[in-house]
Amino acid sequence: MDIKRNILLNPGPATTTDTVKFAQVVPDICPREQEFGDVMEFVSKGLTEFVGSLDKYTTVIFGGSGTAAVESMLSSAVGEGYVLIINNGAYGKRMCDIANVYEMNYIEFQSSNIEAIDFEALEKVIIENKDKLTHLATIHHETTTGLLNDVSRLGALCKKYNLDLMVDAMSSYAGIPIDMEKMNISYLASSSNKCIQGMAGVSFVIANIETLVKTKENKPRNLYLNLYKQYEYFKKNYQMRFTPPVQVLYALQQAIVEAKKETIEARHERYVKSCEVLWSELQRLGLRRLVDESCHSHMITTVMYPEVENFSFDDMHDYLFERGFTLYPGKISSKDTFRIANIGEIDHKDITNAMKVLEEYLIKIGFIK
Ligand SMILES: Cc1ncc(COP(=O)(O)O)c(C=O)c1O
Repeated sequence: MDIKRNILLNPGPATTTDTVKFAQVVPDICPREQEFGDVMEFVSKGLTEFVGSLDKYTTVIFGGSGTAAVESMLSSAVGEGYVLIINNGAYGKRMCDIANVYEMNYIEFQSSNIEAIDFEALEKVIIENKDKLTHLATIHHETTTGLLNDVSRLGALCKKYNLDLMVDAMSSYAGIPIDMEKMNISYLASSSNKCIQGMAGVSFVIANIETLVKTKENKPRNLYLNLYKQYEYFKKNYQMRFTPPVQVLYALQQAIVEAKKETIEARHERYVKSCEVLWSELQRLGLRRLVDESCHSHMITTVMYPEVENFSFDDMHDYLFERGFTLYPGKISSKDTFRIANIGEIDHKDITNAMKVLEEYLIKIGFIK
């Protein structure tokens, strides 16, 4: 059976291979069977191995979207400690929202959403609060704009001040090489439907085992999302405590096989190549980018609206959508922008084709003469 190939230029769920799609079509199975336990074990170990060694790190899986993993990580690991949260976009703000809901001890460090973190200012806040701070939480790749935070430098800062680093790597995991040990990351959250190129429905936290085990005595703030309890149960049974999204896990298993075959380094290079083509095409079309190049990822690009009277993002979206390309609206309120992501099972040729259609549209509305 042929499945129509849509080129998703939204920042996930991303375009997937047909083999990942078809991996979901399996005989019905009770997830408590050993055979399904083997799938879970493969998935957990496979996800870990992309960023750390199995003797030091472990992957705890939940059914849910990415926010579930971020919520699990924050609500379970900080305990009665104090977390410094870097907010330089909508997802940094979401971590603050989570901390508020759970009435956690936290300090918000606000930073520009288009320029790099001011490390001097950040260190000053750490020094001022060093008696109470226990954790630092950050987004790796702010999907809001395409801003990439320097996690290695944050890891070094955490080492200096003895803080546990928690990273929301939703849209960077499997798209940018990450080494949790080298980068001094204690917890990393991501989901099944972005750069790992699986289906939506699984979220996971990869944790340093030694650090995770120390949270055993933390008073649980929730039931479903408790990280230690989920880890403990999984370790004994290779099962999740509650009903897993069975078919999504089969798809994730296949996505891991394909990511291993491609390698994360080669996947990153593919994304970089697509992005380079995108940037040069945008320049040719006279469209401007928002984020400073020094902290720009090669996976998501925020583009300023074309300066033309009565410009309508929806109209542009629909024009491209009818031709197989999905654009995405911007997520910052201060500027009129839209976003183009180049993650998922697409390459630079797809970007070139998308830009041809965008050019047609810009001619139609009179932006290009
Ligand atoms: C950095 C980041 N964090 C968290 C989320 C939330 O993930 P979800 O929408 O799957 O809950 C996203 C979603 O795009 C994200 O990009």
